[in-house]
Amino acid sequence: MTYQTLLVEQAGAVGLVTLNRPEALNAINTQLIDELNQVLDGFERDAAIGCVLITGSAKAFAAGADVKEMAPLCFPGTYLDDFLGRWDRVAQRRKPIIAAVAGHALGGGFELALMCDFIIAADTARFGLPEVKLGVIPGAGGVQRLTRLVGRAKAMEMLLSGRSMDATEAERCGVVARVVPAAELLEEAMDSASRIAGQSRTAVMMLKECVNRVDDGSLGEGLRFERRMFQAVFATPDQKEGMGAFIEKRKPVFGR
Ligand code: HXC
Repeated sequence: MTYQTLLVEQAGAVGLVTLNRPEALNAINTQLIDELNQVLDGFERDAAIGCVLITGSAKAFAAGADVKEMAPLCFPGTYLDDFLGRWDRVAQRRKPIIAAVAGHALGGGFELALMCDFIIAADTARFGLPEVKLGVIPGAGGVQRLTRLVGRAKAMEMLLSGRSMDATEAERCGVVARVVPAAELLEEAMDSASRIAGQSRTAVMMLKECVNRVDDGSLGEGLRFERRMFQAVFATPDQKEGMGAFIEKRKPVFGR
């Protein structure tokens, strides 16, 4: 099976997915998220797979959701189509998923990495939720998950300013499990994935379920609320201005 936006391989009991839209720094469009879900569906069914690894390129894990695809969207459409609804399926998987991140993991790219069970970062990785600079907000769980990981103060500062953090800061505040030299990222992440895939499948899946229980209580409500707010932001002129300015390569001028 070949995909337009992904490279998919199997290495032993590890399913390796490489995001592959180099022309857009792996920006995540509908086709990519649909193909990713298709691949993850297959891995979930495949008894030979014990762990999944998602990675990107040396320059970008993913520089966000695709701004060019989102720019023309409007509120009724995003709401009716439940735009971003299919993203959450990545977080619902039962088999463990590791994100191996080098370069930019921004916006939806960071949100995708946060949906994985843990992140191994290259020393070149940068993480951020810069949506505010486009006149919008994150919508695929980034606000909920980042705040739970780093606490309110740092999450607020990052979200309200749109600033990103480097790999060292990300490790210090618990966003990533481990930082490794960029040249060793894939080898280290594959090592970790193979070790997990070699454990008892049942124990591993039970552990994942138990850890997820820690904060599942009100996360679902938070995620639904965040997605609705994200859809609603497409009713604002600032969304058109922010995304239009990005595509036209100019500074945005926001209203009040
Ligand atoms: C669409 C994107 C993109 C994106 C980069 N590109 N990010 N296209 N959506 N998110 C495209 C650029 O338009 C450009 O194409 C090509 O990729 C290379 O990008 P450059 O900007 O030329 O590269 P560079 O100068 O190295 O800068 C890298 C960068 C910058 C700092 C990461 O690309 C950037 O700021 N990107 C946007 C980051 C962002 O705002 N992400 C959040 C998006 S909103 P052309 O054709 O022009 O050469 C979001 C909402 C999530 O994610 C909602 C829930 C999922």
